Amino acid sequence: MSQFEQLDIVAAYHAVSDTYLGTDVDIHALCRQYRHNEPVMKGDFVDTYLKVPTNAGAKAAKATVTVFKHKDIMAIMRDAETYTNGFIAEGLGAFFDGLIILAMDGEQHRRTRALLQPVFMPETVNKWRPEIDRVIREDYLQPMVADKQANLMDFALDFPIRVMYALMGFPTSDTEKYKTYATWALAMVAGNQIDPEKAKIYGPLAGQAAKHLYDGIKEVVVARRAQGTQETDLISRLINAEAEGRSLDDHEITTFVRSLTPAAGETTTRTFSCIMTNLMQRPELVERIRNDRSLIGKLIDEGIRHEPISTFKVRQTSKEVEIGGIIVPKGGMVQCMTISGNRDEDVFENPDEFDIDRKVKPSFGFGFGPHMCIGQFVAKVELNCAINAMLDLFPNMRLDPSKPAPRISGGQLRGTRDIHVLWD
Ligand code: HEM
Repeated sequence: MSQFEQLDIVAAYHAVSDTYLGTDVDIHALCRQYRHNEPVMKGDFVDTYLKVPTNAGAKAAKATVTVFKHKDIMAIMRDAETYTNGFIAEGLGAFFDGLIILAMDGEQHRRTRALLQPVFMPETVNKWRPEIDRVIREDYLQPMVADKQANLMDFALDFPIRVMYALMGFPTSDTEKYKTYATWALAMVAGNQIDPEKAKIYGPLAGQAAKHLYDGIKEVVVARRAQGTQETDLISRLINAEAEGRSLDDHEITTFVRSLTPAAGETTTRTFSCIMTNLMQRPELVERIRNDRSLIGKLIDEGIRHEPISTFKVRQTSKEVEIGGIIVPKGGMVQCMTISGNRDEDVFENPDEFDIDRKVKPSFGFGFGPHMCIGQFVAKVELNCAINAMLDLFPNMRLDPSKPAPRISGGQLRGTRDIHVLWD
């Protein structure tokens, strides 16, 4: 069997985690030091301390400045005219033929976003809530109840894919296929290596995965168009969408949907792992939330502030700017340490504390500004359904003391490898 054929979802997930793990530094402590002593750093923080690829890819120029304060990050991410994303097309975007919304700027981004947005709005997603809830309970959690123990990450790797791929418009009859697609999506993300030796392995795997995923999605798009669909899923909407007198052809839709696949599953898996790690370390909080499910929304918001799974965002200047007294030339790279902004003492009181009762203020776990996560509502509904169902079905759910405690790590993409729990 070839290396590509041997790839399964767990191996692919760990390959992505390892790619974006970087050095084992205390990223929160380092960012705190910079917030206090040098809130705008001349140079590239990620390259200096974390040693992980950015989504600009290995060839991109190093960042001219790195910013750590909430106010600076917000100002940069909100101003997409000055701080642009086009460079991503040649980095991570190369594995998506450049057609990736995150790499679009200006009018092209605005038009594309307008086309996609309706699928991800609460009106559409809420229609799916009963089905999301049913799948999580009946297909995943109820069969686990009698075991009285689990590694929650086995469940977390699967359920977001199942939900998101259905929302995109893949046939729900073949759920095993979702796993294969999700494995390929992860393999594409693992293609973005800085180590040349690893690039030799993961680069070709990413290429094969991109091709297979393209063929699989194209089949669905062609069949859906032939049916003359009026459904509300993403593929159907893209088939029926018309913007300024032009509609999208099968190739464009396929490439587009493929670019969404990594964003759709892994991010929610990682976020689940960070939230559940923080929750399970606080048995009194588990009890409080078990008795008052309206708190799950606050748990999710605080989880995403306290441990955002993606630690920084890079932008490129479209003109010369000055940030914190440092001149950044046109074309310079600016690194925003969003994980640092989420713990800025000027905005969040006792920022290192995990406190679901804190006043809600904007944080950057889903980004900020025009590129802010389009799928955030989907992710929140899925996480809410999953946590609610576990609290219903796993009485006295607690960490398994005989297994290693979960630990959140990662320089660029954060998460926990395992979360072993027991219940009565
Ligand atoms: C908890 C789970 C998720 C997290 C933490 C997350 C995080 C993020 C972040 C931080 C960004 C901003 C990137 C930037 O500004 O450079 C983003 C953008 C994006 N996310 Fe998510 N995401 C999640 C789930 C999803 C889901 C379920 C989808 C659905 C397909 C999705 C689709 C996207 C897309 C398409 C963009 C790019 C939007 C644009 O460029 O206009 N995400 N996400």
